Formats: sequence, structure tokens, C-alpha cells
Amino acid sequence: MKAVILVGGQGTRLRPLTLGTPKPMVPLANRPFVSYVLERLRNHGIGEVVFSMGYLPDGIKAFFGDGEDFGLKVTYVTEDRPLGTAGAVKNVEEYVRDGDFLVLNGDILTDLDLGGLIAFHHEKQATGTIALTPVEDPTAYGLVRTSESGEVLGFLEKPSWDQIDTNLINAGTYILKSEVFDMIPAGVEYSFERGVFPRIVGKGLCGYRSDSYWMDIGTPEKYLQAHYDILEKNVETNISECLDQDFVCLQGQVHLETGAKLVPPVIIGEGCTIKAGARVGRMAVVGPGCTIAADSVVEESVLQKGCTLEENVVVRRSIVAKGAHVGAGTIVSGGAIIGEDAEVGEDNILTNHIRIYPGTVVRGGSIKF
Ligand code: GTP
Repeated sequence: MKAVILVGGQGTRLRPLTLGTPKPMVPLANRPFVSYVLERLRNHGIGEVVFSMGYLPDGIKAFFGDGEDFGLKVTYVTEDRPLGTAGAVKNVEEYVRDGDFLVLNGDILTDLDLGGLIAFHHEKQATGTIALTPVEDPTAYGLVRTSESGEVLGFLEKPSWDQIDTNLINAGTYILKSEVFDMIPAGVEYSFERGVFPRIVGKGLCGYRSDSYWMDIGTPEKYLQAHYDILEKNVETNISECLDQDFVCLQGQVHLETGAKLVPPVIIGEGCTIKAGARVGRMAVVGPGCTIAADSVVEESVLQKGCTLEENVVVRRSIVAKGAHVGAGTIVSGGAIIGEDAEVGEDNILTNHIRIYPGTVVRGGSIKF
């Protein structure tokens, strides 16, 4: 079976991390996010993948090439303009038309049993099978009602509590028969959720319920949570092996000065320097080539590659994007995001979900909230 991975979106909710980097290439535990999707496909015996791209496609192509290093054959198709989920799949029809095929949103971290999904789809002889995942707050989502045996009965868009009789949502992974292509108009924006699926309710559309780990990394909060879940091994990824028993993963040579502390769970990228008195963890991922100066603290946070924290910096529940520089005594907390290559001077307080855009220079002591 072949798979189409949708990676054309602009990732607006994850800005400023997605201004210079497309969401699939945003690092998750120091690897492009979409490489976890490829790993899962390969582990389930999928041999061919088509990337359906739009926004910032070049970095994706450059990284994955022909796919050989990842054990897959990879093809790339770039849209001139956003075509929506179904329009994007229609656009790659020639590559996958020869049989049933998988479609995956490129921004979901999951250990969904693809083998189980495929077997269910075949057993039901379904026209389409949607993977379903339960959520805690069903009012925020489009819900999917199914019969006991798995036929989809209907969709319920952002319902009120009194309408709710299911907590299952579309998990962004489908298997479709090629006849579905005949329902999608070519060259226009079209959606599976609003266009295709409602038309095949009662005509072979099934739902496969899974209680596997599932997280859409589309917001900064969920991006952080996905890191915490990898660190705690709540989701099965190949980082779990490196974390081993002690939950400390050094991804290469790291220079830890005497008196520097790592508090598990923690992942440190290759070539980092952590100076005396600095404390990294618990729940921290530090990208390759970062420098964390004396007495700084990083916890429940992500530093992407090549960041520098001067002395006495605190980074807590926040994200520092690649190449950013944070001056001495600055506090970065409460869901703050420091964009790529930003220069933050000393003694600032950046908190309350503040987003510093890439390349911005923040003078010393100028922000205190
Ligand atoms: P937001 O702007 O933050 O909503 O993110 P997004 O642009 O990624 O949109 P969303 O999270 O709804 O998209 C789900 C998945 O579909 C992501 O993997 C997107 O890359 C992908 N996607 C969304 N729209 C398109 C599209 O028009 N074309 C293609 N090829 N992929 C798309």
C-alpha cells in the first residue's frame, strides 16, 4: 500500500516557529517532525510515500531526497495554491490510483496500529476507513458517530454538551479506495471532512477506533506536550531506546562542565556545552550545538539547535527556536516562544505566551511582563 502525507499547510497556529520552517520540518526531539510519520509507515511495511506539499516545500525535499536513507521511496508533488485535504490528494492521483491507499495528516504524532487499521478496512471491504481517536473535550472538535460494528453514521461539528453521544474524532489517518477520486473535483479546494466523507456515509464509510497515543502538534502547547510525552515514553518512538532506563538521552558528544546538572527526563543534542551550575530538566529537550551558561535553568522547555543562553537565564515551559540568543538574567516562561535567530538582551522578562518573531532584537531590560 502507498501513502500520501499532507504537508502543504502553513501551520499558522505554530507561528513564529513555522515562519521560516514548514511544520513537518519543525524539530521534535531534535528530528524533523514528519520523520516520525515516515518511521511509523516504514515499520508497518509501507514502501512508497507521496508528499503533498505547498508551503515551503524545498526544505522537505532536501532533507528526505529519494527516501532511500529512510527505507522508503519518496515522491514530491507541490501545489500552486492550497487545495485542501481532498483537493491535495486528487492532485497526486496518478501516483496512488492503482489500489487502496493511505492518507495521513503530516502533523500528528501517534503510535496508531496501522496494521490493525488496514486489516479492518479490508475485512469491512470499506470504501473508506477513518481512524478515530477519543478526546476529553468533545465540544471542541468534529465528532464521528459509528455503529457498534464500525459503520460511520454521521458527523457532528463542534456540538454542545447535550448533543454529545460520542467522544470520537477523526484522527487524520484514512484508507481510501481509488473510486473516491471520482468524487473529488480536480484543481479546486476540496475537503475530505466536509466534501467527501459526508457523501459516503451509509455507502461503505467505516471508522476504526483506536486508543493509541494521538497528538496533533499544531499549537505551541501541543508541541511542548508532544515533547513531554516522548520524554516520558508515553508514545513509542525510536528515541525511547536512547532514553533507556535513566531517561537521559545524550545524542552524541556533549560537554558537561563539573557542577552542571541534568535532571531526567532530558534529551541533549550533539555538541552542546552546559556550564557549571546550570540545570537542564526535568522535561527538557536541547537541540544540537546549544550553549547553556553558568547558573541557567531549562525545564519543561525546548531549545532548538544552536541556541545560546547566557548566565542566569531561566527558560520554563517555553520554546526557544534555532539560533536564538538570550542575554544574562532573562526569564523566558509561561508559554513564550523566541523565534529563530532572535537576539534577546539581558534582564528581560518574557512570559504570558509572548511570541518574539524571527530575527527580532529585544534590547536589555525592555520587556517585563
Ligand atoms: P494551521 O494553519 O495552524 O491550522 O495549520 P495547517 O496549515 O497545517 O492546517 P491543518 O492543521 O488543518 O492541516 C492538517 C494537515 O493537512 C497538515 O499536515 C497540513 O500540512 C495539511 N494541509 C492542510 N491544508 C492543506 C492543503 O491545502 N494542501 C496540502 N497539501 N496539505 C494541507
